[in-house]
Amino acid sequence: MRKNLIIAIDGYSSCGKSTLAKALAKKLGFIYIDSGAMYRAVTLFFLRNKVDMNNQNSINDALQQIELNFHARDYESHILLNGEEVSDEIRQMPVSENVSEVSANKQVRHDMVKQQQRMGKSKNIVMDGRDIGTAVFEDAQVKFFMTADPKIRAERRYKELLSKGDTSITLEEVFENLAHRDYADTTRTESPLTRAEDAIVLDNTELTQAQQLAFALEKAQPFLK
Ligand code: DC
Repeated sequence: MRKNLIIAIDGYSSCGKSTLAKALAKKLGFIYIDSGAMYRAVTLFFLRNKVDMNNQNSINDALQQIELNFHARDYESHILLNGEEVSDEIRQMPVSENVSEVSANKQVRHDMVKQQQRMGKSKNIVMDGRDIGTAVFEDAQVKFFMTADPKIRAERRYKELLSKGDTSITLEEVFENLAHRDYADTTRTESPLTRAEDAIVLDNTELTQAQQLAFALEKAQPFLK
């Protein structure tokens, strides 16, 4: 039995996983790790360096050149790709459009999962992603599986992009990208997105952020010392 507490949050794209994960981590004094940011940063590196996704040797070589680090500021996760802060760039469309293909690659997943498991070895953490409760930490004490109405999810992501000044994309394009990523995430061969048997489903279509936090805290309560 592990001594540190792991809260795993999986679910579809843009359904509020990171918002809840950050709020939980802050409330409990845990470390927050955004596993999606890692796949996004790898994708950015592949795009910048024109890595051929059909050539596994190129992928393996590229992976060896990537060092990822998080530094936490106010529970906002900031990711560094070889020392460069790329937190904003990884949220933009070129990365969103390519991250499904990159994150479906077996070697990419193998490397990321190894790093994620190291981060959760001894510290209390909240980690969000697609395979945290099913593959990275099957033994996580608390697991959530988040979902929400696809239209609401697209609207939320669209507003987020607009608020960051990205006006290059329409709501329809955001919706299409989410639908595409849902399909890719749930049908890929390597660790597809699926609910762990012991994960608690949280549909937040009609829940406020405060309600979601209260729900999650209540479920985590029995495991807090
Ligand atoms: O959570 P996000 O939308 O930032 O994640 C980006 C992509 O990375 C998502 O489309 C699927 C992939 N991903 C994954 O395969 N496994 C994870 N644990 C986290 C993200």
